[in-house]
Amino acid sequence: MATLSQDELKTLVGQAALKYVVPGEIVGVGTGSTVNKFIDALASIKDQIKGAVSSSVASTERLQALGIRVFDANDVAELAVYIDGADEIDHQGHMIKGGGAALTREKIVAAQSRQFVCIADESKLVKTLGTYPLPVEVIPMAAHRIMRQFAAMGGQANLRLRYDSPLVTDNGQYLVDVTGLQISDPLAFETQVNQWPGVVTVGVFAFQKAQICLLGTADGVKTLKF
Ligand code: 5RP
Repeated sequence: MATLSQDELKTLVGQAALKYVVPGEIVGVGTGSTVNKFIDALASIKDQIKGAVSSSVASTERLQALGIRVFDANDVAELAVYIDGADEIDHQGHMIKGGGAALTREKIVAAQSRQFVCIADESKLVKTLGTYPLPVEVIPMAAHRIMRQFAAMGGQANLRLRYDSPLVTDNGQYLVDVTGLQISDPLAFETQVNQWPGVVTVGVFAFQKAQICLLGTADGVKTLKF
């Protein structure tokens, strides 16, 4: 196979994810450039599904522009499948997510889905999580204290900015990005950080890990099962 660009690998896995969409049902949809490829592919089978539950304003707008009905998460009990990208994924299906600032709603939709199918290009597969800056959504008044707590752990936390001001998430909160951590026990790490007052969502997805990863590689799409 000719060498594919990262963008082409994203297209490949976005299309491959269609096979996991259950006809007649509502599909959970993540956020990001890889998911955008999935949404574009989903439009080709939109008459076969009821619609989607979306994890961000950006994905909702893209789904609706393509004529796919978007349901409120509260109006749907359980989803068969949630399809989303990742910033990093390890060999057990744990992930770092939130590069696109949508981690809180992503975790919510993942939690109401029976299966998480991660779509990613092979640059995202890692042995240990932590090279990608870990996003953490926080209540603004707690931001600096939480940054100091990460510093005490050996990390460096930065407030995510947009045009020189703190970025405000879809939920009206701030984000900190943490570098310098090696997350060797994702479940313990997620449990610990979840308990800090003011943390809305930590971008480690261990409780809501992937069961399947469709990985775009130079040899085509590889299916990893966890
Ligand atoms: C958004 C996310 C995305 O899934 C993650 O950032 C990967 O994005 P992309 O597909 O653009 O590389 O967690 O909050």
